[in-house]
Amino acid sequence: MNVTRNSRMSPLDPTAAEPFYRQIYDRFRSAIANGLLKPGDRIPSARALTKELGLARGTIETAYSLLAAEGYIQARGQAGTIVTPGLTPQIAKASAAPRTERVAVASDFRPDSILPFQMGLPALDAFPRKIWARLGARCMRSMQPSDMVHPSVFGLYGLRAAIATYLQVSRGIDCSASQVFVTSGYRHTLELIAHALFKPGDRVWIENPGYPPTRDLLGLMHMTSVPVPVDADGMIVSEGLKLAPRARAAVVTPGHQSPLCVSLSLPRRLALLDWAARNQGWIIEDDYDGEYRYVSRPLPALKSLDRDGRVLYAGTFSKVLLPALRLAYLVVPQEQVQRFEDVSRTFVGGSPQLTQAIVTAFITEGHFARHIQRMRKLYAERREATAAGLESVLHKHIRIDPQPGGMHLILRLKGRRSDRRLVARMWDEGLYAEALTDWMVGSSGASALLLNFTNISTQRGAETLGNRILKLV
Ligand SMILES: Cc1ncc(COP(=O)(O)O)c(C=O)c1O
Repeated sequence: MNVTRNSRMSPLDPTAAEPFYRQIYDRFRSAIANGLLKPGDRIPSARALTKELGLARGTIETAYSLLAAEGYIQARGQAGTIVTPGLTPQIAKASAAPRTERVAVASDFRPDSILPFQMGLPALDAFPRKIWARLGARCMRSMQPSDMVHPSVFGLYGLRAAIATYLQVSRGIDCSASQVFVTSGYRHTLELIAHALFKPGDRVWIENPGYPPTRDLLGLMHMTSVPVPVDADGMIVSEGLKLAPRARAAVVTPGHQSPLCVSLSLPRRLALLDWAARNQGWIIEDDYDGEYRYVSRPLPALKSLDRDGRVLYAGTFSKVLLPALRLAYLVVPQEQVQRFEDVSRTFVGGSPQLTQAIVTAFITEGHFARHIQRMRKLYAERREATAAGLESVLHKHIRIDPQPGGMHLILRLKGRRSDRRLVARMWDEGLYAEALTDWMVGSSGASALLLNFTNISTQRGAETLGNRILKLV
């Protein structure tokens, strides 16, 4: 058998027990293990192989996705897809995924957009594609002329109402549909808030470490970020009070602090609300993955304690559904609705109507709640499997933080190793990681890797990837 670029692949076996994607996966993997394909060799594009084998494109992409997620192949843009440099036949042999293993990743993403441990992604293989396709087809069929014109800049009313109901039930937030504004993502939400409530030069507390886009965006909009340290109870509010007591706002991730995954303690929640009420300041609650808590039920949102109308709540569908949807939302206090409507008319173009309609049906017909429940269970399992796999191989070099929730692991590097240097080496080898140092303003000496686990389906897979990291430590 030969699977190199200029030769043909022999026909697949339609009577075999393995599905086609698995047969293709196996052929490539054994070609690498046998040395027929060498590190750096180019393999056929998914399009070319689709044509050659006469199969659905999704079948080929599923096989390539699995190979890419497990680190066998890498897409290099214009240069095509190649066998991962540095991959030895021994590794390929040792790391063969067991036959009963689930497909690690979804069948429709472009292999060049995904690396093992890639941050910010939900489990792509677990997305309920069939339900989505059914709802999508139904929404398309029922499109009326009124669905074909510019969408409301505040969001589809049905979606705003569905979000309000969901927030009431799941996050303890009491709000009406008119307080919900649909946006195209967290950054858009933050931008909208800044246009509505801030002026250049305003000081804003941000968490340190914290989500880099928050400080980047505030900086671009001429706000002055005030980095406030975070400990095991979340943002240290007393430090914020010392650093900038008259700040205009605070941006926090109370559910699972981004990136440390700790929760903001109740005393700190109350202290923050008290500060905002006295100071007429704003709290921006970025609740990007509050649902994903594994040690207990999800904590209610900070917004649920907001008696003075000082909290602006930012939610997103990126983690609980898919980042490709580009749908998020903002809940504003009742007294601010008018202001946000005015600003939205100028700064918002509206989000795609059809996507909003599908998400609305998905929520109102109960699929959303079920999906979140399933994902919570799946992520708890994948988190454990990934942590166990990495720990078994890397325990001399790392310590994994215990965390109540979230979608990534924090691997503290022992000794004086630089997280940035290790991350750069991992990127060179086709492994994704982010350095905690890059999420910090100033230096604290903390050195850690941030690794997403939601697309790692087995402990064995994690061990294989751990072995690749081991060579780079
Ligand atoms: C801390 C944090 N906030 C918000 C988001 C959501 O961003 P978006 O809605 O633009 O996908 C993310 C996604 O990765 C995140 O990590």
